[in-house]
Amino acid sequence: MPRDNKTPLIQKIAQQARLTFRGLQAAPGGDAVVADRLAQLISLVTAVRAADLKVAPRKSKPSPGAAGLQGPPELQGPPVTYMHICETEVFSMGVFLLGGGASIPLHDHPGMNGMLKVLYGKVNVRCFDKLEDGLSSAPPRFDPPLAPQETPSVWRAALRSVTQYSETSGPCLLSPARDNLHQVDALDGPAAFLDILAPPYNPEDGRDCHYYKVLRPAGGRSQEQRREVEEEEVVEEEVEEAWLLEVPQPEDFWCGGEPYPGPAVSA
Ligand SMILES: [Fe+2]
Repeated sequence: MPRDNKTPLIQKIAQQARLTFRGLQAAPGGDAVVADRLAQLISLVTAVRAADLKVAPRKSKPSPGAAGLQGPPELQGPPVTYMHICETEVFSMGVFLLGGGASIPLHDHPGMNGMLKVLYGKVNVRCFDKLEDGLSSAPPRFDPPLAPQETPSVWRAALRSVTQYSETSGPCLLSPARDNLHQVDALDGPAAFLDILAPPYNPEDGRDCHYYKVLRPAGGRSQEQRREVEEEEVVEEEVEEAWLLEVPQPEDFWCGGEPYPGPAVSA
């Protein structure tokens, strides 16, 4: 088959995402055809670079969300910006730009699959899953203690992985059952990543975005000890138990929008 060099890579990704996730939604367990399509999609996404989307790396300006920056938030730009590329019933695709030191706080993707591919810079991704048995085991005491009204919003969870990604890394994958919750932190300056979600968020269909805070059991590891673990290059398949509290969207996180400058995509 002749190679198709005229179709922009991002258009090929959109076509392959539609094919892959339409198949996955029809057969949630997947089959050999879906697995093959997913492998092709991962291969295309792995190849994408910022230049393919005409996204230029930003200068290293601290984000308003970064610790230590002074001044009223309304006078500063958003810590995170989203460039919408396309959305169908099957999937949505866009680019997140993170300022230096910015984070996308821990959040979920209920019933969704996803792919995150770094375009420039470096990010740290911490992935969690809520555990099926929820609160069947009594939660420990936390530091600081929970308010009584917070207890129903506590989830037992597993910390699945803490991994750093750069533009040469393959995509970070998530599914309804695996690595579904994540926190994304820009490391060593600004970063950007391509984000594909399938199906897209849709609160009317039970797919709203919720935010979470990791609770620290009383007498558990200190923040510093936890950070030391995170700074190890890759911690694969870590099965550390975690306790998450559902919280409102953090005040220091908000997402601005700007136009996507790359090749037009029809999905
Ligand atoms: Fe996400």
